[in-house]
Amino acid sequence: MATKEKTVWYCSACGNESPKWMGRCPACGEWNTMVEAPKATRRTPASSAVGRASQSAPRPLSSIEGDAGERVSLGIGEVNRILGGGLVPGSLVLIGGEPGIGKSTLSLQIPLASPELRTLYVTGEESERQVRMRADRLSGGVLPENCQVFCETSVERIVEVAGGMNPDLVIVDSVQTMSADSVDSAPGSVPQIKEVASRLLRFAKESGVSVILIGHITKDGYIAGPKILEHIVDVVLQFEGENRGAYRVLRSIKNRFGSTSEIAVFEMTGAGLKEVANPSEMLIPMHGEGLSGTAIASTLDGTRPLFFEVQALVSSAVYGTAQRSATGFDVRRLNMLLAVLEKRAGFHLSAKDVFLNMAGGLKVSDTAVDMAVVCAVLSSNFDLPLPSDVCFAGEVGLSGEIRPVAQTDRRATEAARLGFRRIFVSSFARVEGVEGIAVEKVADVPALVKALFR
Ligand code: TYD
Ligand code: MG
Repeated sequence: MATKEKTVWYCSACGNESPKWMGRCPACGEWNTMVEAPKATRRTPASSAVGRASQSAPRPLSSIEGDAGERVSLGIGEVNRILGGGLVPGSLVLIGGEPGIGKSTLSLQIPLASPELRTLYVTGEESERQVRMRADRLSGGVLPENCQVFCETSVERIVEVAGGMNPDLVIVDSVQTMSADSVDSAPGSVPQIKEVASRLLRFAKESGVSVILIGHITKDGYIAGPKILEHIVDVVLQFEGENRGAYRVLRSIKNRFGSTSEIAVFEMTGAGLKEVANPSEMLIPMHGEGLSGTAIASTLDGTRPLFFEVQALVSSAVYGTAQRSATGFDVRRLNMLLAVLEKRAGFHLSAKDVFLNMAGGLKVSDTAVDMAVVCAVLSSNFDLPLPSDVCFAGEVGLSGEIRPVAQTDRRATEAARLGFRRIFVSSFARVEGVEGIAVEKVADVPALVKALFR
């Protein structure tokens, strides 16, 4: 009797499986994410993440070797730092990002910058010639002897070849182009992505070889793939940045071996990604005093505070309803700050268009930027430039109060190092006498306005 091929529905955001189509995924609540795919039938026994049942047995914790912090150092210092001091042998690292952000470039720069490591660079997207041409451009002609390029999309073949070669590092670009023979569905589908990642994870754990896996994210931030993998892999690094801007931020979202709050900044140049060791110096304007509508904010991602310019333009509304637009900042938060200015400080901005921009294509979610946003808006509104040696670190609350933010002292110290003379913070911030900078404490928005604009 002929059997009808079984299909199931998968949520492309979270990987939830359902026997029928649904408009909204019951697991993650996203709309229109269910896609149909053949039911994952495995011809081989189900793969477990770390070893087959027959080989593993419980052991006393104290008898297990801990690899006392042994890490493989890559040739790119910023990547080492964000990984927590290098790659842990046998780890699976996922690098996610939108198309064109520079994932393939970074993943090829790693073997080029680490010539002593034996690497297997697997690509399912580009031909050998394309890889060679890109490598020539990135390296200026000096190519490492230890890097093998392998154009392949079958994960079984990759594991077989990598097992025979025993390299230090395997790079796979990208998870969406790979497929496992044991799963009957198209490359890039949820079952395939899960199977490919767990095969590579098992390979990494069994052989002790580190694997870097590249994954695409779709434009709306909905990761067709990597989101599903976040719980499988050891480390998730996300590449962010405005495509037009030159800066790229690599952010650690998950790290089983280190902190997740680190960021690394790169600049995309004609010869690949260049590390930006001191990003604040590039994000702070060189024009000195005289421009209204700008204020310097600080954001703390990881262990290093970052200072950058917030730009605002306030002009009379052309249409009946005023426009509000924000690049790199949540527009709803901008609306909230404008409402606070109106209600608590008496500025009528409802008939004004307000445009806001974070310099360098940064995307910011730290609420410590609020105070700089408010000051940039007011500075543009009054056409009054702020002094160039002033910066801000404070959150604005709904009643107009300035609230303290995390690690104000570290921000103040870094601001002093960058040459600022005054930093405005909340009156409740716990920070005393920082050398080289005056810490100005303000309680609310009216006090801030009084200090700077009256
Ligand atoms: P790529 O690494 O191919 O992106 P992804 O793999 O994330 O899709 O990089 C894409 C962009 O980077 C491409 O638009 C061109 C630019 N680029 C440079 O500006 N300089 C370079 O040296 C390279 C290799 C790429
Ligand atoms: Mg690519």
